[in-house]
Amino acid sequence: MNAPQSLPAAAGCPIDHSALKTPTGCPVSQQAAQFDPFGDGYQQDPAEYLRWARAQEPVFYSPRLGYWVVTRYDDVKAVFRDHETFNATVALEKITPTVPEADAVLKSYDYAMKRTLVNEEEPAHMARRRVLIEPFTPEALKEHEPMVRRVTRQYVDRFIDDGHADLVEQMLWEAPLTVGLHFLGVDEEDMEQLRRYSIAHTVNTWGRPSPEEQIAVAHAVGNFWQLSGRIVDKMRATPDGPGWMRYTIRMQKEHPDVVTDSYLHSMMMAVIVAAHETTSHGIANALKLLLSNRAVWQELCDDPSLIPGAVEECLRHNGSVAAWRRLSTRDAVVGGVPIPAGSRLLIVMASANRDERHFADPDALDIRRDNASDQLTFGYGSHQCMGKNLARMELQIFLEEFTKRLPHMQLAPQRFEYLPNTSFRGPKHLRVEWNPALNPERANPALLQSREPVRLGEPSRQAIARTLVVERITRAAEGVLLLRLAATDGKPLPRWAPGAHIDIECGNADLSRQYSLCGRPDDATAYEIAVLRDAASRGGSAWVHEQLAVGQRVRVRGPRNHFRLDEQGRRAMFIAGGIGITPIAAMARRARELGMDYALHYCGRSRGHMALLQKLAAEHGERMQVHASNEGRRADLPALLAQPGADTLIYACGPARMLQALQQATAHWPEGALRVEHFEAEPTTLDPSREQAFEVELRDSGITLAVRADQTVLAALQGANIDVQCDCREGLCGSCEVGVLAGEIDHRDRVLTPAERARQDRMMACCSRAKDGGRLVLDL
Ligand code: HEM
Ligand code: FES
Repeated sequence: MNAPQSLPAAAGCPIDHSALKTPTGCPVSQQAAQFDPFGDGYQQDPAEYLRWARAQEPVFYSPRLGYWVVTRYDDVKAVFRDHETFNATVALEKITPTVPEADAVLKSYDYAMKRTLVNEEEPAHMARRRVLIEPFTPEALKEHEPMVRRVTRQYVDRFIDDGHADLVEQMLWEAPLTVGLHFLGVDEEDMEQLRRYSIAHTVNTWGRPSPEEQIAVAHAVGNFWQLSGRIVDKMRATPDGPGWMRYTIRMQKEHPDVVTDSYLHSMMMAVIVAAHETTSHGIANALKLLLSNRAVWQELCDDPSLIPGAVEECLRHNGSVAAWRRLSTRDAVVGGVPIPAGSRLLIVMASANRDERHFADPDALDIRRDNASDQLTFGYGSHQCMGKNLARMELQIFLEEFTKRLPHMQLAPQRFEYLPNTSFRGPKHLRVEWNPALNPERANPALLQSREPVRLGEPSRQAIARTLVVERITRAAEGVLLLRLAATDGKPLPRWAPGAHIDIECGNADLSRQYSLCGRPDDATAYEIAVLRDAASRGGSAWVHEQLAVGQRVRVRGPRNHFRLDEQGRRAMFIAGGIGITPIAAMARRARELGMDYALHYCGRSRGHMALLQKLAAEHGERMQVHASNEGRRADLPALLAQPGADTLIYACGPARMLQALQQATAHWPEGALRVEHFEAEPTTLDPSREQAFEVELRDSGITLAVRADQTVLAALQGANIDVQCDCREGLCGSCEVGVLAGEIDHRDRVLTPAERARQDRMMACCSRAKDGGRLVLDL
């Protein structure tokens, strides 16, 4: 390998050359060697720039940067999640070491910035985060809504009659900073000066500033530091006044060892930086994206209730924090690649957010995408952005103001420029133009009185739905209907990957059911599902069978996918029971297209009860075996699975008892070889008349919470401001796992193995409960 010039001398090449062999003998591929996050390609579109990496080399070493670069969704999330192996201490480390002259300038201002939340280690970090988080909760943020509206309106008023504006210069750079200062409780009289210093303080942490630039920045940072200190001192005189800084001053009295003086001073400055550029760039990126997709912009102008979903999708598609950093504290493996202890990692959220393994049709801008809030732009896990809900509120209000007052605004012709750096990303200018004579408020001044309700927190998945029309209904088997649902406006539907499902609202918003997609993923005109009439149905499948007719409209959420085919896998065995064939049909077809070595076992009561049978037989020929019980040909699972197949993954979907039998029959297979989609005609929901209330005690936080009969542990924890990660909220993904120190658990997830359940030392907070109304002690 040619030693790259910018490789940190002390680090050397961290790759074990003997372990990795490539055709050229050098383990760093040509593309990895050329990776340049300061070049135009990365700046313009980091996700596009790293497309090759997601496909071919998802974790690679960049000699130019001296960092390991992580590009796929699951790997980025796994790094964020494991804060012990990958700590955050390097998050604010300068990518380019500072020149001694700049250090001397900082010293002359007594600059003594300490670690603040974002780059602290556990357990100190969590202790502080818990003490300081309350003003960031959705409930507490409500009081700031009028302020955010006022600030937004003031800025737009200044240029609304001009017919053109550079939105970054005239509004987006300053307005989020002003909001941030109000949130902190900075007095109006100090704002102007603080704004000046912090604006001059162009974040140089993530870029390559020249020595001269570094000195200029050092002066601004020094001034910024001193002024922050003076403002904190002043606030101490009025600790009961407004804002988050005074809240921390009050907390200092209660927890003097957790919140120290120097911590307060550092935090004042750090939060201004955290709240400012991230949000400025976030809204600039969102506007640029929406104005470039005119039809979507028009939809928002016509129906502002779509704005919360649009905000989340913009954060996913074109987020303002493109990448973040971690340090490995021990030897680790990420995405199958060994990472030595002491390595630096650049985890690229912009790339993860466009990973097709997690987001269906990831390059499409889909404001009705129901898993857009899985985006990683706010980070994830113990350090996840505390200000995320304030940022979401700002983005919603900004978009509401623009779509209402300037719906006719257009992007002016321009080339977008970015400040070269790894992490903070937004255009330097955003030039727009419009005809002021057509400003709607001139004809209708009452427009200015209307207000869209702000959605505090992530958008509700319930609220994000698209309307489809039933195009065709055919009988697919005994008691099974095949439905074809098409877009109402003829626009292409989001693409999906085999294994995906959609949620259908069955007559009312509170009754939705999941159905796997069984048509062709490349058919963007419609989705196909097969629905079995369940004799015990309380509304879901009965509604589909009895009420739904061709031409009727239905509200649909998704597609979402918890059951993906490993396309790199060599061998696959598909096992479907009854209507569980629906995801399996799409997966087996894909396996065939990929030339995989696969077998398909389809089990059912009788051939007459088995949907899609003829089609499958034609597609898979000898590779499919039909096990019809009435022919005396039940599948003998233990015999079928007696020999663990090397490189074989088993994909199964069917009734619970079949899946249980499969768990047993594969107990001797390698861990993870069996992948299941739990098919149940009527998924269970919390029925308060059948559930019991109970208590959970949180050992670290020293509090006890009551969990109501109609509430999940996760909801009770979040209501008490205890951050627990969560993703699917259905017991499917494992992200909400919490340690259990005492008490008996009623496990209801689909993640833990029987052996793990038996240990009674962890549970999924989104669904599992205390057994018989008992008490649980959690490791939180
Ligand atoms: C942390 C992004 C707005 C306050 C973070 C992190 C990211 C981020 C990526 C690090 C997460 C991690 O390590 O897992 C963003 C984006 C924003 C935004 C994209 C706007 C669109 C804000 C605002 C505030 C804020 C408005 C404050 C008012 C913080 C704080 C942390 C943080 C205090 C540190 C949390 C911790 O380490 O426990 N943010 N942020 N952010 N952000 Fe934000
Ligand atoms: Fe996915 Fe609980 S959030 S298992």
